[in-house]
Amino acid sequence: MAFNKRVKIKELLEKDYADQDITIMGWVRTKRSNKNVSFIALNDGSSIKNFQVVADPNLINEETLKKASTGACLKVSGKIVTSQGSGQQIELNASKIEILGEADPEKYPLQPKKHSLEFLREIAHLRVRTNTFGAVFRVRHALAFAVHKYFNDKGFFYIHTPIITASDAEGAGETFKVTTFDLKNPPLTPDGKIDYKADFFERETNLTVSGQLEGELAAMGLADIYTFGPTFRAENSNTTRHLAEFWMIEPEMAFYDAEDNQDLAEDFLKYIISYALENCKDDIEFLDKRAEEEESTKKADKRSEMGLLGRLQFVVENEFQRLTYTEAIDVLKNSNYNKKKKFQYLIENWGVDLQSEHERYLVEKHFKKPVILTDYPKEIKAFYMRQNDDGKTVAAMDILFPGIGEIVGGSQREERLDLLTKRMEEMNIPTEEMWWYLDTRRFGSTPHAGFGLGFERLVLFVTGMGNIRDVIAFPRTPGHAEF
Ligand code: 4AD
Ligand code: MG
Repeated sequence: MAFNKRVKIKELLEKDYADQDITIMGWVRTKRSNKNVSFIALNDGSSIKNFQVVADPNLINEETLKKASTGACLKVSGKIVTSQGSGQQIELNASKIEILGEADPEKYPLQPKKHSLEFLREIAHLRVRTNTFGAVFRVRHALAFAVHKYFNDKGFFYIHTPIITASDAEGAGETFKVTTFDLKNPPLTPDGKIDYKADFFERETNLTVSGQLEGELAAMGLADIYTFGPTFRAENSNTTRHLAEFWMIEPEMAFYDAEDNQDLAEDFLKYIISYALENCKDDIEFLDKRAEEEESTKKADKRSEMGLLGRLQFVVENEFQRLTYTEAIDVLKNSNYNKKKKFQYLIENWGVDLQSEHERYLVEKHFKKPVILTDYPKEIKAFYMRQNDDGKTVAAMDILFPGIGEIVGGSQREERLDLLTKRMEEMNIPTEEMWWYLDTRRFGSTPHAGFGLGFERLVLFVTGMGNIRDVIAFPRTPGHAEF
């Protein structure tokens, strides 16, 4: 007989199983016992809600009840009845309990008490069994699903761009190398350099920092595409917003200009956030309370004005503020923060890159809503962005979110072969090696645009968690690749 004849707790709570004999399986969160009865709160991951199992010591032997301790995994059969207690409407009267896996109470690290997020990060293999991480990963799933649904409904095609590449799309040089060489003894050329011709791919390769360049190739035939895959950056940033391995969603559209791109990005973000609000109510309500508790431990001036639910609703219901980099520099230059030297990096001249303190000032203090910043100086942006007529700026767009800063980076692309080649030469990007990229501008070029949404930054925003390491199951950051 098949083992898994179980009802998921989520389904038990949504459908009518009154008086039926059923089986549930899950992990013990808590157990309370007295002489006459034991109450076991079981969680099977399907919902933030536990299900109450009532065990009568006349039916379930003492040894089994003893082993049904916090963390143990159980298979419980019995009848669904109306609960006598006040915490729940229905419960399961156990006729049989099987211990699928014990958890020695002396050694099991997760106790019903509250653990710090830092401690839970050290036991990332077990933290998925807590309320907070269960909620985070269910919301993360819903957001990923909504991404695919949004694009599928709009007629976009999902392209799987390569993980191993020979290019560095963002030109930042912060890539992880891919090689099969014995690092102690790599083959050398006659002049003593590492001989990549002898390596697996017969050239130097790295893990991708972005699927954009290949995405552009696909858009030049399928018109509307998106990628959604892992990307890797070896930047040594120990912040609450950076991972060395993160997931990025990158749509790329032929026949789109900068404004079309902004409209799509805004509509897309609102759609996926609404989807989570509608489909993850219990989890987001739980996370809202969690965030509120965390906020209350902060100093008054560090607290955010809105709660999590309020923030999500606000983003869905309000238009994003659109302005150019040049306008933003004026706002920042004239701000009290600049005048009173509250910024760590003061804004003095046009042309400087914005730090996250500036982005957050614009979003959280000045406009108090998400901001789409456009038309950045070409010197601080990638080679592929379309050059504006002023000769100084490019058709870039960054979307800035409260509490996060940059969540999206994108642009209209330079579709004119001569201007693109010239810019690549100025930036020392090898045009011969990128012949395939330039071919799209040689043959049937067209205005096109796209953007990249950092998936973990989105999950951070929607779950109200404070650290990006807490929204991906097994985070990769400098010094951390366990699990
Ligand atoms: O702004 P970025 O570097 O843009 C690109 O990679 C473009 N090729 C995207 C495109 O136009 N198709 O990265 C895009 C987004 C950022 O806005 C941020 O949300 C996220 O990716 N991101 C990171 N997220 C977590 N950890 C990191 N180290 C990140 N670096 C970027
Ligand atoms: Mg960026």
